[in-house]
Amino acid sequence: MSALKYHRVQPEAGWGAIHITGGKEVDSVKLQDIERVAVIGAGTMGSQIAQLFSQVGGYPVIVYDLNDELLTQGIRSIKENLQRHFVDKGPMTLDEMGKVVGRIRSTTNLLKAVKDADFVVESVFENLELKKNVFRQLDESAPPNSILASNTSNLNITEIASVTKRRDTVVGMCFFIPVSIVKSNNPRQIRGLE
Ligand SMILES: NC(=O)c1ccc[n+]([C@@H]2O[C@H](COP(=O)([O-])OP(=O)(O)OC[C@H]3O[C@@H](n4cnc5c(N)ncnc54)[C@H](O)[C@@H]3O)[C@@H](O)[C@H]2O)c1
Repeated sequence: MSALKYHRVQPEAGWGAIHITGGKEVDSVKLQDIERVAVIGAGTMGSQIAQLFSQVGGYPVIVYDLNDELLTQGIRSIKENLQRHFVDKGPMTLDEMGKVVGRIRSTTNLLKAVKDADFVVESVFENLELKKNVFRQLDESAPPNSILASNTSNLNITEIASVTKRRDTVVGMCFFIPVSIVKSNNPRQIRGLE
């Protein structure tokens, strides 16, 4: 059985390489090979993760949530974070902030959010059935070779991955918080069960 064995983010490689071992061989995915990112859930963590990918990685990011109000609030909190922690303190100009925000788009259409994404980070409420339901939809809508990551704090990644047909490319990501402020924000590795 091809099972989710071991998902590893490689801190020593910097914020830049994700090593996935699922099945027989180690597959290495470099973040520089990723062109488009989608974030599912624009709440506290999702908005900061979207900011991190745009600000640090320079990726175009598309954020999905259930309605426009939630998305507007998520984008507003990204702007407030950037203003307070980077622009007001000096290391970022308003022009640079505009570019970070400009790379982040939002949508209430899940298919639109993930259909071209190479890397999808799920950050919805910490509820197993909800996350499994979201991963079922992601599996159907995201490109077959894209990586699906869950930002779960405590739920079992193997169980979340079990609802997909791509258990070897489902990973867990966990961030130091606040995500957008901690400098060495190498996501922690999360092991699957098998
Ligand atoms: N260190 C870490 O990495 C860390 C820290 C805190 C929380 N977390 C985890 O991050 C995840 C999100 O936590 P949070 O604090 O951002 O929660 P939150 O409540 O602030 O945000 C959750 C968002 O998910 C959205 N959502 C709910 N159902 C959805 C669906 N079906 N599709 C799309 N969006 C949906 C909600 O509308 C909300 O905007 C949880 O799994 C939590 O355990 C991780």
